[in-house]
Amino acid sequence: MGSHWFEGLADHMGSAYSRYSFNKGTEQEVGFIVDQLDLGPGDRVLDVGCGPGRHAHALGRRGIEVVGVDIAERFLEVARRDAPEGVTFARHDARRLPFDAEFDAVISLCQGAFGLAGGPAATARSIDPDLDVLLGMARALRPGGRLAMSAFSAYFQVRYLESTDDFDADAGVNHERTTVRDESGAELETDLWTSCFTPRELRLLVSAAGLSLRHLHAVTPGDYAARPPDLDHPELLVIAERTG
Ligand SMILES: C[S@@+](CC[C@H](N)C(=O)[O-])C[C@H]1O[C@@H](n2cnc3c(N)ncnc32)[C@H](O)[C@@H]1O
Repeated sequence: MGSHWFEGLADHMGSAYSRYSFNKGTEQEVGFIVDQLDLGPGDRVLDVGCGPGRHAHALGRRGIEVVGVDIAERFLEVARRDAPEGVTFARHDARRLPFDAEFDAVISLCQGAFGLAGGPAATARSIDPDLDVLLGMARALRPGGRLAMSAFSAYFQVRYLESTDDFDADAGVNHERTTVRDESGAELETDLWTSCFTPRELRLLVSAAGLSLRHLHAVTPGDYAARPPDLDHPELLVIAERTG
């Protein structure tokens, strides 16, 4: 399996990841996703780029079976602690997912792999490295299965560019220098590369992956709602279906 620049961050942060404020939105996000994907007890969900497993755990507590995958072993160790029954975790690179028509739904939230494939060492197996991730998620769905995937909004990123951001206008990738903390509060200066998307790009990628778009919502972590794409929300939430 290949390596990924996010693994260094995960090794440092470990369980301290769950102290970041966006984790507080997990229940609201999962409530909205369950409704949009029409999920219920007994359904099987794949969580791609699951991190320490906050969405997987919340789905598991609703009686949904979840397989969480991530490239960062350190996050998977945290995710396995206190996992509800029916929730399991495995290390996989989302750019090469091995699943075939096995899941009722696939989720990838808060830039869980999709949107993180375009930084350094981007693989170019398809026309876009993030499309490799999306193709694997589409293949993992059974016919009729549904996808919920969030992506960073290029409009918002450029509108609110900060001094720590360096936006590559050609690639659509934002490079940010930031600091992350471990469990003891020790800081690590690090880099983040986040691919940003317009609604039109997402529609084209969803179609290229053979999926049918159902909804495209403008969202903020912890405030998922049905609203059209705009310039004011940091993320776009794709709801799509495998029809074939
Ligand atoms: C910002 S975190 C989001 C984690 C989780 N989805 C959440 O909402 O808390 C991004 C996650 O994607 C994982 N990731 C990035 N690229 C990946 C890849 N190619 N394959 C699998 N996981 C990947 C990282 O290790 C990290 O856990």
